[in-house]
Amino acid sequence: MAESNILTFFGHSSFRITTKKGLKIWIDPWLDNPSAPQDAKEDISADLILITHGHGDHMGSCMDLASSSAAEVVAIHEIQQYLLAKGVPNVTGMNIGGTYHTKGVNITMVPALHSSSIQEGQELIYAGQAAGFVIGLEDGYKVYHAGDTALFGDMAIISTLYNPKTVLIPIGDHYVMGPKEAAYACKLLDPKVIVPMHYGTFPALTGTVGEFKRQLKAHHVEADLVVLEPGQDLELN
Ligand code: NI
Ligand code: MN
Repeated sequence: MAESNILTFFGHSSFRITTKKGLKIWIDPWLDNPSAPQDAKEDISADLILITHGHGDHMGSCMDLASSSAAEVVAIHEIQQYLLAKGVPNVTGMNIGGTYHTKGVNITMVPALHSSSIQEGQELIYAGQAAGFVIGLEDGYKVYHAGDTALFGDMAIISTLYNPKTVLIPIGDHYVMGPKEAAYACKLLDPKVIVPMHYGTFPALTGTVGEFKRQLKAHHVEADLVVLEPGQDLELN
């Protein structure tokens, strides 16, 4: 058993948590993203794959990971149905508000304020609502992956009910919160550690870490801001 749970960033909104017990949990794996580390696809073994919504920059490598390992995919009902129809064998559907316990981990699907669909050629397939996840690891450590989202006041409820210690927060603007909204979100969430994501991957995502830092200060948020480079690890203790 390892001493820490390890969070690894793969660029954009893609993360892997390797728990103390060695469980590999991927969230929104898109390993072809422009900022992914070169060796991103070297080890794509997975036990759990969590998908926040149907957009390609979040579903990205889901099929590859699911087919190369016996991973269980967890997503909203509509995405589950889509993946099952595509032949992915082990997919659990759930919905916003619920908690699913599997492999020693508690997965709570929480709201996100965003759209969701799956694009196939010119066609857009309905993919249910966009979501975020609060992931309670085997030792009780909690991580919140906000998915793609706008700021919403009920993040305060996520803080009160689940109290995630580390939050993964989009700051890129245009399609998601910008630095100002993201800083306010962190004020509501009151975590210990903040990891920014979903910025700089492509030109429309103009939100910067520098501006996020300024906004966190302006909003008197005192949590540690940890800026991960793609490929970099963070110990979750
Ligand atoms: Ni999206
Ligand atoms: Mn996105």
